[in-house]
Amino acid sequence: MISKIDEIKKQALTDIETAKDSPYLEAIWRKYLGRREGKLTKILREIKDLPISQRPKIGALANKVLQEIDERINKAKNCLSFSQKGKSAKQGDITLPGEKVELGHLHPLTQMRFKVAEIFASLGFKILDGNELETEYYNFEALNIPASHPARDMWDTFFVDSPQSSLLKSKKGKYKLLLRTHTSSMQIRVMEKEKPPLRVCVIGRCFRNEATDASHEHTLYQIEGFCVDKEVSVANLIYTLRGFLSLLFEREVKVRLRPSYFPFTEPSFEMDFSCLNCQGKGCSVCGQTGWVEMLGCGMIHPKVYEAVGYATGQYSGFAFGIGLDRLVMMKNQIDDIRWLHSGDLRFIKQF
Ligand code: DAH
Repeated sequence: MISKIDEIKKQALTDIETAKDSPYLEAIWRKYLGRREGKLTKILREIKDLPISQRPKIGALANKVLQEIDERINKAKNCLSFSQKGKSAKQGDITLPGEKVELGHLHPLTQMRFKVAEIFASLGFKILDGNELETEYYNFEALNIPASHPARDMWDTFFVDSPQSSLLKSKKGKYKLLLRTHTSSMQIRVMEKEKPPLRVCVIGRCFRNEATDASHEHTLYQIEGFCVDKEVSVANLIYTLRGFLSLLFEREVKVRLRPSYFPFTEPSFEMDFSCLNCQGKGCSVCGQTGWVEMLGCGMIHPKVYEAVGYATGQYSGFAFGIGLDRLVMMKNQIDDIRWLHSGDLRFIKQF
């Protein structure tokens, strides 16, 4: 009986597919579901003669198939009447261009992300992302930012309040869970697993518990790059970043370093690059200085190597952190970071 029902279903669906007009569909309905002669109706009638144990299963199947055939016929009728209307309205206009299907495109942040990844990959960097939910250990402690240190105030943090949050075990003890405030945490995760030489570029989402305004968002993308090997120097850092910026902006870019402070680098710097708008002469974009603030960077702190178990003095390396959102804003002259996460199609369609 089951195979009979399946066979009826198959035949009915094939018939429906080949139907070209409504009267034909009506005929199909009668052929399978008609009150007297319908093939499926007959089966339904025969169910009462089956052994009691088989009736519920076969009954359910037959009813399901009945519904399906009925629905398909109705759908096919709707389609036919729709295309019929279309035909009469547009008869003779076969040369008109078809209706345009609107194509979407990648978000400007994603476009920039791909571009940055492509450039760093071409410079020999491995591209990673990593987890957005992090522990205090990887986000702070191992990066030489102990709990009591005032440097923690540099990152307003979303702590995650879950039953496990305060219990999450790391090698070094129990640490709270949080949404990573920067991608620097991946320095530790990578170095714990791998030995130099390392060239890694992490591009991912980070979170800050701060009020939003034109230049601050609670959610942002960061590029964290680092290179660890023997005898890596500040010269390598400058060369790499100048190369990156020149490739990104497709022109020769000058850079300069200013002293700064980050707990996980020593020495630490801010890197500026020559304003692209005025070629360094001074304009409103660069506040008349000729330079645009770009990123934080420095030489990886010995405490970081200590945290991942590298022997003291064995390796040296540089690290840098760049805001991806800021790059998109600079490249496209966007003056408010909040546009990037607004989901507003009027904005997104411009890129
Ligand atoms: N993680 C820093 C931040 O979120 C950015 C940063 C600065 C990363 C200096 C680095 C670095 O690797 O060397 O503000």
